[in-house]
Amino acid sequence: MAKIDKRALEQALAGNPLARRIVILEETESTNLAAKALAAQGAPDGTLVLAYRQTAGRGRRGRAWECEAGACACMSVLLRPSFPMELAPRITPAAALGVCHALRVYGAEAFIKWPNDAYVGGKKISGILSELGTLGKDYFIVCGIGINVLQRSFAGPLAQTATSLLLETGRTVALEQVIIAILAALTPLFAGCGNDAAYAAMMEEYRRLSCTLGRAVTLTGPGGVYSGIAEDFDALGRLLLRTEDGALITMQAGDVSLRNRDN
Ligand code: ATP
Ligand code: BTN
Repeated sequence: MAKIDKRALEQALAGNPLARRIVILEETESTNLAAKALAAQGAPDGTLVLAYRQTAGRGRRGRAWECEAGACACMSVLLRPSFPMELAPRITPAAALGVCHALRVYGAEAFIKWPNDAYVGGKKISGILSELGTLGKDYFIVCGIGINVLQRSFAGPLAQTATSLLLETGRTVALEQVIIAILAALTPLFAGCGNDAAYAAMMEEYRRLSCTLGRAVTLTGPGGVYSGIAEDFDALGRLLLRTEDGALITMQAGDVSLRNRDN
């Protein structure tokens, strides 16, 4: 597998506001950590960090993201939004939708598992980890996305739960092409996160591609375990859960783990 071609990416992404500056690392612990370090040094909005090899890729709650060198597209985008920090939770649902759109361009019928994963054929193909940072009165978001592109197999427990674009479609798509497609899909979606009408329209499409909506689910988080029906998502992309006693409760994405109960 060839290393990521920076020149080809710069040409293809010229003018893209999510790739104003492209940083490609041969090896790093986590592109999210690298992007946060760059943010602290004043890197601009739209700094894109890519890595050929991640040695300590992270999911939520300190869980690991396994990354086979050269087979997984590992990317983090640094955002310095002009919208208020209260709207920052909108970024992860927007990213999940963009990932699904891009995977569909390459023939994978991807769906969104709330809050932060893309699934194809019941298996996880992509995960998103958005992290918020503050510097004085300013804030930034690092949106990290991992996409399984070229893996032919997965080891250990992931063998049952993970899949890749190659496994699903039989297509060998270069990592650069997947990254370019994702950034193209994310650009209008991220731009819409500061606008209520644009975000509402985006959430309509999100509902259409959700494999969580309407399902019986169990949510486990620091606040306890909740079971019910995933009834809807709100204007920040939070999950509205109809519990068994009829109450409607709002679940934040943060630290919550979700399992569908009917599969
Ligand atoms: P949950 O399913 O509990 O709601 P999640 O799927 O959003 O959580 P995280 O809590 O962010 O996952 O943690 C990442 C999880 O993703 C790991 O625990 C592991 O199960 C899974 N995982 C790790 N690497 C890969 C990969 N390359 N492909 C698919 N799944 C992976
Ligand atoms: C999840 O599985 O729910 C989230 C996984 C997020 C993985 C990506 S890979 C690029 C970026 N760097 C990280 O350490 N995590 C994210």
